[in-house]
Amino acid sequence: MICLGIESTAHTFGIGIVSDKGKILSNVWDMYRPASGWGIEPIKAKMHHEEIKNKVLEKALADAKIGLKDIDLIAFSQGAGLAPCLYVGLNFGKELSKRIKKPLIGVCHQIAHVEIGKLCTGVKDPVTLYVSGANTQVLAFAEGRYRCFGETMDVGIGNALDKFGRGVGMDFPSGPKIEVLASKGHYTELPYVVKGMDLSFSGIITESLTRFRKGESLENLCFSLQETMFAMLTEVTERAMAHTGKTELLLTGGVAANSRLQEMLGIMCRERGAVFHTVPKEFAGDCGTNIAWLGILHQKSKMKTKPGILPRQRTDEVDVGWI
Ligand code: ATP
Ligand code: FE2
Repeated sequence: MICLGIESTAHTFGIGIVSDKGKILSNVWDMYRPASGWGIEPIKAKMHHEEIKNKVLEKALADAKIGLKDIDLIAFSQGAGLAPCLYVGLNFGKELSKRIKKPLIGVCHQIAHVEIGKLCTGVKDPVTLYVSGANTQVLAFAEGRYRCFGETMDVGIGNALDKFGRGVGMDFPSGPKIEVLASKGHYTELPYVVKGMDLSFSGIITESLTRFRKGESLENLCFSLQETMFAMLTEVTERAMAHTGKTELLLTGGVAANSRLQEMLGIMCRERGAVFHTVPKEFAGDCGTNIAWLGILHQKSKMKTKPGILPRQRTDEVDVGWI
């Protein structure tokens, strides 16, 4: 069985093709990048996706060296995400499914980030730290679902980094640029906000932007933002590992590409005798490949999903029948 996955929840339109054996045949995507100083405008992102969807499809099929007729299943990212963008994926999925007379299935974007990490690293039953634009969640599988042990109480860590970047004049996405500047900075204290197992990032960003405007060094603020926010993540993740007794950690989502975050979590795992795994960089951010793989998992386990788009879908409301 070969599945074609469509990703369109926010900034990225992607198509990936994966076999039921977990062989990744292609991973093609294109990102909408708002002008400097601006956030994502859903309608502009939607227009971007509409404009490039056929080009992305052609390249994905060419890379996989197959034709549409070879596809057995189509999966699309049904939520969570921005409604205008989600509709592009749904409608393109419907069109292709009709054209080749093959089933269409909607899958959860967040769970796709987790499952691609498991496929690529071989980890079986980890605590997962899922850090991306809109999400920051500590997850572990228990009794049929990915349960959320801790999460952000306001913005996701990626959006927090992007908001800081926007405020200091960086282009989107700012996470990678902050990482580069952080390597030249020194520590300066910022608010550290952990409440039980939950985290908050928005106050840290407001404080950092205020201090930037007062003339504090950008490099120092970038360094300290990373140190503070990543220490918060490491603390909560370690507590989840201690409570669940799980001995493996999986880091996934767009922010998983950050080397300093990987280093801090790696040290924490080593100190407690646990094994640390990170999703490969090419599959850390949004892509159709993780959607295709989740489509395969749903199909194999005969797990039905709801029809249409689900802009506010939560990770822990999805029944996971393949574990
Ligand atoms: P979600 O998965 O919550 O819906 P998303 O799909 O927008 O969010 P992803 O594509 O998974 O998010 O990740 C994008 C985010 O990752 C952006 O906020 C970007 O700044 C951040 N990011 C990418 N590379 C790095 C890096 N090296 N360091 C820190 N952040 C990074
Ligand atoms: Fe994502």
